[in-house]
Amino acid sequence: MCGIFAYLNYHVPRTRREILEILLKGLRRLEYRGYDSAGVGIDGGNSKDWESNARSIQLIKQRGKVKALDEEIHKQQDIDLDVEFDVHSGIAHTRWATHGEPSPVNSHPQRSDKNNEFIVIHNGIITNYKDLKKFLESKGYEFESETDTESIAKLVKYMYDNRESDDISFATLVERVTQQLEGAFALVFKSVHYPGEVVGTRRGGPLLIGVRSDHKLSSDHIPVLYRSCSYSFSFYTTLPLMRVRLSSSLYACFIRVSKIKRLMWFLICHDSAVIEHTNRVIFLEDDDVAAVMDGRLSIHRIKRTAGDYPARAIQTLQMELQQIMMGNYSSFMQKEIFEQPESVVNTMRGRVNFDNNTVTLGGLKDHIKEIQRCRRLILIACGTSYHAGVATRQVLEELTELPVMVELASDFLDRNTPVFRDDVCFFISQSGETADSLMALHYCKERGALTVGITNTVGSSISRETDCGVHINAGPEIGVASTKAYTSQFVALIMFALLMCDDRISVQPRRREIIQGLRVLPDLIKEVLSLDDEIQKLATELYQQKSVLIMGRGYHYATCLEGALKIKEITYMHSEGILAGELKHGPLALVDKLMPVIMIIMRDHTYVKCQNALQQVVARQGRPIVICDKEDHETIKTSSRTIKVPHCVDCLQGILSVIPLQLLSFHLAVLRGYDVDCPRNLAKSVTVE
Ligand code: UD1
Ligand code: BG6
Repeated sequence: MCGIFAYLNYHVPRTRREILEILLKGLRRLEYRGYDSAGVGIDGGNSKDWESNARSIQLIKQRGKVKALDEEIHKQQDIDLDVEFDVHSGIAHTRWATHGEPSPVNSHPQRSDKNNEFIVIHNGIITNYKDLKKFLESKGYEFESETDTESIAKLVKYMYDNRESDDISFATLVERVTQQLEGAFALVFKSVHYPGEVVGTRRGGPLLIGVRSDHKLSSDHIPVLYRSCSYSFSFYTTLPLMRVRLSSSLYACFIRVSKIKRLMWFLICHDSAVIEHTNRVIFLEDDDVAAVMDGRLSIHRIKRTAGDYPARAIQTLQMELQQIMMGNYSSFMQKEIFEQPESVVNTMRGRVNFDNNTVTLGGLKDHIKEIQRCRRLILIACGTSYHAGVATRQVLEELTELPVMVELASDFLDRNTPVFRDDVCFFISQSGETADSLMALHYCKERGALTVGITNTVGSSISRETDCGVHINAGPEIGVASTKAYTSQFVALIMFALLMCDDRISVQPRRREIIQGLRVLPDLIKEVLSLDDEIQKLATELYQQKSVLIMGRGYHYATCLEGALKIKEITYMHSEGILAGELKHGPLALVDKLMPVIMIIMRDHTYVKCQNALQQVVARQGRPIVICDKEDHETIKTSSRTIKVPHCVDCLQGILSVIPLQLLSFHLAVLRGYDVDCPRNLAKSVTVE
């Protein structure tokens, strides 16, 4: 999906070359999200005076990768890369085409006019852009691209051209623009009329502000300015939080003129892009307008609504740079697969006590009684996160004794599914930003259900908008094909199931069995990962095939779906996850001696039925590769090819059965010569419907 990276250096001298390097590196950090073109907007002049340089804007845009944009920048004859800027604001974007094909003209920044008076970068979709375009065309504004975003660039110029006074602020213009926009967006603006300034806003899509300063920041909060007050708040004011709570009109008393400080500001759509510069960030809320002017940040809102907290906290990211680097691995996906012994530990850290068999989920403690009283659990998600719901449904049903529905967010919305006040709705999402899941969350909130998030991204929309939840703490996941987030979501849902029944005496032996299973899980995952060479060899036998069928049932149906999704996503081979119980109702017709079939057979309550399925496949001359328990001598003896995994408690075995398929898809993609981390047509975070 699209990526935003804006950088403003304030009294930190930087050459244009350095500024461009920072912008392009920021875009590279966002490459994993998926995109098909990229662009930058920087100050245009080549004089020694930064302010006069900022009176013109240079746009450089290119189809393809950031590398292609870099080459395009170096082809520009008219920009001097050695010019130094004491103050400069630059904005950069990776675009994932929605309106109009990938091309330089459709790439962002989009501009207001041929003189580039206003430029804007945008993540999301503007649903009323056709009306805006019609209106603006009727006023004489000429459009050049097919994008929805261009209407925003023209609209801000329209607001400027029709301003009532010359001292109107950039933030006010943007505020007026956002009032006219419908849809989802994160936006960053730059203008020749506001040198050294940058303005960002969001609705429905994430936008963060990072700050780096040589000096200690004197406040941990930025107060929100409601429209009635039009001054700018000094970042260096020493307002205590208590005063931040005062009404905005009182702030006027506390404005201080700050000394000139050296500062760097970043406006980004994801924290991984900024972590190498700073770990101090502010998460904007929907409809916040954040403006950096004279090196100071101010956050504006039109009006205060009930429950609005009138300040935004400056938070410290826990992420380390090394977490988003590839290390010795050939791709992020491979690194993330091999991180799973640690990522599941991080999900359980401080939450599962293996000595007294208790589970504590800080994020649910205030709501657990209410959840225990509910009538139904609904797990809602997309893609891999949906599979985590399918994988844990049975144990949730067993330990909560509640009906559990597992829903694909898009279908759940299409059906206008009835939801009631005594339902508890879970939203499982690695990114916490998936548009379909977010819309389903709004739908359930409107109907009065309690909402619970299972997210990997602190500060994401789902994390913030749910009533409560659990952060899975798997660490940043960069590969588009989700791996470690899946196993951590799985563990988080198991922990929830355990928490739900912690005072039911009859289930204590079962709880203990599962908790002790969680204790050994990291070591068992390591054991499965040691099969890597064997799986790579299998991949060399399969990579030229067109199709792979994956069959299983019970706890392992989710593994079949997830394994097939991994193969589809990154190898572009056809792959289907098939419920073994449905074999005779259709899929058996696909089986012959040529069709590659993988079957999952584990020693649980479905064992005999799985053996039957195996016989049915073998009887059609199929030669399945069986993923089985390493102690299951019978299956090992009767199957021509097996992948042997260690035994674990039944409801956790799905974590061990999916890892061979993650590895297989990875090796197949490498052998087929594809980009493992950035598969074609896919994005890590799908913020459009
Ligand atoms: C929290 C801290 C963790 C600290 C621990 C110490 C955060 C993010 N986590 O973890 O750093 O080590 O206390 O006790 O500060 N939430 C949602 N929706 C979601 C996910 C979470 O509303 O999708 C809410 C939770 O209800 C909770 C908060 O976010 O209020 C933090 O959740 P989580 O990180 O899971 O809580 P702890 O495990 O207690
Ligand atoms: C996208 C990703 O389609 O969104 C998948 O490519 C992911 O890997 C799906 O499973 C859902 O994303 P999230 O962030 O809501 O878990």
